[in-house]
Amino acid sequence: MTSAVTPADHDHAEPDAVARSADGGLLVEGLGVDYGQSRALFGLDLAARGGSALAVLGPNGAGKSTLGRAVAGLVPVCSGRVWFDGQDITGWAAHRVRRAGLAYIPEGRGIFPGLSVLDNLRMAVRQLPSKKARETAIDAAYGLFPVLEQRRDQRAGSLSGGEQQMLALGRVLVVGPKLIVADEMSLGLAPLMVNAVFDGLATAREDGVTVVLIEQFVHRALAFADDCAVISRGQVTWSGPAAEAGPQVLEQYLGAAAGPA
Ligand SMILES: Nc1ncnc2c1ncn2[C@@H]1O[C@H](COP(=O)(O)OP(=O)(O)OP(=O)(O)O)[C@@H](O)[C@H]1O
Ligand SMILES: [Mg+2]
Repeated sequence: MTSAVTPADHDHAEPDAVARSADGGLLVEGLGVDYGQSRALFGLDLAARGGSALAVLGPNGAGKSTLGRAVAGLVPVCSGRVWFDGQDITGWAAHRVRRAGLAYIPEGRGIFPGLSVLDNLRMAVRQLPSKKARETAIDAAYGLFPVLEQRRDQRAGSLSGGEQQMLALGRVLVVGPKLIVADEMSLGLAPLMVNAVFDGLATAREDGVTVVLIEQFVHRALAFADDCAVISRGQVTWSGPAAEAGPQVLEQYLGAAAGPA
């Protein structure tokens, strides 16, 4: 190898090892996604080692949510492969991806606003095998976010934005996912609510869950994550350890989107 090593070549996540290991890791290789005539992802490559946290950053319209939807099986891919937990999940239907342990929390919350908090949690745990397991899982969500128990009979759509995000996170955590893709969970939240969301993600991570964090709070995301991938116009333009995503990288690859510290 004589070519110069660019930051995007920084191969800290060993793609082959990530693809082979059944430890909740994610590997995306050459991913292409179209929306009709318009291309959103162009041969995107990234990896999240099992049990690690990967921050996915990038300006508006870069393709971050499209990446989340594509790995979750919510939009079809037109090229490339997705490996999760040691399996090639390319082209799998969304319910199959979810059952395999990959939970995607979409931008703008993943809840049923017309249902109560409790019914939202009941929906989330319905595939668990016994009544006891379902009750234990709902209690675990209340343990993680006590406000959900206080508001169990309230319509989810009438919760505050932060409470809705706690419910969205509670809904995915109770079923014991191996990987969570959290898309802009802290968007529009007050700082205390952002803390609660990050605390919930930190708890999941302590339990060994892989976290892919799509975030607008760049500095917060980098402080949380092990690794970072910057996406611009449907491709990864920089990747490396989060600790190396310093001001120069952010300025060069994110520009104004890097935001305040
Ligand atoms: N359903 C859709 N139909 C057509 N084009 C879409 C659709 N969803 C997204 N796009 C386009 O694909 C590109 C990537 O969008 P995407 O939502 O993935 O960006 P993003 O990085 O998540 O942006 P943001 O930070 O604003 O959430 C954009 O040009 C967008 O307009
Ligand atoms: Mg988005």
